[in-house]
Amino acid sequence: MEKHFAVIGNPIEHSFSPAMHNAGYKHLGIDAIYHRFQVYPNSLAEAVYGLCALGFAGWNVTLPHKETIIPYLDTLTPQARRAGAVNTVKILDGKKIGHNTDGDGFICSIEGELKEFRDKKAVLLGAGGASKGIALALAEKGMHVHILNRTLQKAEELVQTIHQKGGTGSFGEFRPGDWLEDVDLLVQTTPLGLKGEPFPLRLNGVAKKTLAVDIIVNVQETAFLREAKKQGCRVLDGTGMLLYQGALAWEFWLGGKAPLEAMRKGLQDQMLQRMADKN
Ligand SMILES: NC(=O)c1ccc[n+]([C@@H]2O[C@H](COP(=O)([O-])OP(=O)(O)OC[C@H]3O[C@@H](n4cnc5c(N)ncnc54)[C@H](OP(=O)(O)O)[C@@H]3O)[C@@H](O)[C@H]2O)c1
Repeated sequence: MEKHFAVIGNPIEHSFSPAMHNAGYKHLGIDAIYHRFQVYPNSLAEAVYGLCALGFAGWNVTLPHKETIIPYLDTLTPQARRAGAVNTVKILDGKKIGHNTDGDGFICSIEGELKEFRDKKAVLLGAGGASKGIALALAEKGMHVHILNRTLQKAEELVQTIHQKGGTGSFGEFRPGDWLEDVDLLVQTTPLGLKGEPFPLRLNGVAKKTLAVDIIVNVQETAFLREAKKQGCRVLDGTGMLLYQGALAWEFWLGGKAPLEAMRKGLQDQMLQRMADKN
């Protein structure tokens, strides 16, 4: 019988997940369809019960529901508990299982470039939902995680969570400082650059060994990545994180290995289409 999956969020019209997953189903001849649904915060409960009633096998969850969906679920995986957020739900024997693939998706996306994690230093710019998942996954791999955020209290809370889970971290304000010294991994998680705006912090003096990642997707090259490249850093955009979080969700739902190359092609084709539509 045909299986149904979806992504729920608000806004949702720009989601790349349907293109990525549907390309994978087509490649393997799997009888499944991946939908996207706009769900407003005050309709979340109805949406969850509706998806169950309609027989959906699982769904992804994006902003603004990653934390607020938790009370409607029956159980959480260790990854969802670690992040305190859910981006993937699976229905198993009528039970709603909440999972999170954002942090591990990020790790998979950089493993080709960063071989060693333990005792290395990561600096994360931003302390929002995405930063949280990434920070806790990096801390679990043994990295020291330094968080810089505009709202200092949010950075402090995130570092407290890292410490509670046995990791090491520190925090500071989102402004120029001595935090660029001896960084192994620099991750830009704010939305600065989504609209082509300049990046407000200079990266002068960052070590050339630094891997700089901007998790923004579908912008040809953000000002942050341009600046990091100018400083001689290796750079990655957010496409890899998006692909791997999707592949890990696929494997959680369907088992086996996700068809990574077919999913990558589906994602890239959709990105090219969006860029062509913009011009
Ligand atoms: N590649 C992927 O798979 C992937 C996955 C998830 C998200 N993303 C991208 O990651 C970005 C952040 O998403 P999110 O879910 O983490 O958002 P979020 O929860 O709203 O967090 C945004 C963060 O950026 C900071 N920020 C926002 N505007 C700023 C400004 N003008 N100056 C300095 N800091 C600013 C916020 O600081 P305050 O705390 O001070 O407000 C907060 O720390 C988005 O661009 C999203 O598209 C990519």
